[in-house]
Amino acid sequence: MKVLFLIIISLSIIFLACSGETEIPKNIIKKDAFSTREGKRLFLHYCSPCHGKNGDGFGKYFGYGLEPQPPDFTTKEFIEKRNNELLILAISGGSFALGKSNLCPPWGNTLYKEEINFIIHYIKYLNKKANVENSVNM
Ligand code: HEC
Repeated sequence: MKVLFLIIISLSIIFLACSGETEIPKNIIKKDAFSTREGKRLFLHYCSPCHGKNGDGFGKYFGYGLEPQPPDFTTKEFIEKRNNELLILAISGGSFALGKSNLCPPWGNTLYKEEINFIIHYIKYLNKKANVENSVNM
């Protein structure tokens, strides 16, 4: 019985390991200081013109007048409705990949997967920061 159990576990591990490049392990999104710094640098360069420096959707350059407006990354609702897989899909394939408008460009050919992970970490960082600040103000 024990042997059978071990065989099943081993086969599952082999299966998971081979199930293709599209499987993104959850732990790849690191939360260290380097990731925050890199995420910030990339976000400010590529995303903030539309999404705003703080991720609130009011980018100084292109954020106004877009229909739909870029979503507010700092609300709890935004982050609660999206897991890492969905964020990766939205960023690499653009909003069109989610069946939405084509206003958010696909970044999959511009940014490395690792860079997209840094950005996701940074979006979550901005969200957390905003929510801590909001609760302090209350
Ligand atoms: C040209 C403006 C523009 C730029 C640049 C841009 N975005 Fe967007 N983004 C948008 C707009 C507009 C939407 C809303 C699209 C919609 O709902 O149809 C959006 C939506 C999103 C969403 C939400 C998708 C969802 O789940 O609804 C994410 C995540 C996102 N953008 C990430 C990024 C990241 C990361 C970058 C930088 C690498 C970036 N965007 C750069 C305009 C932009």
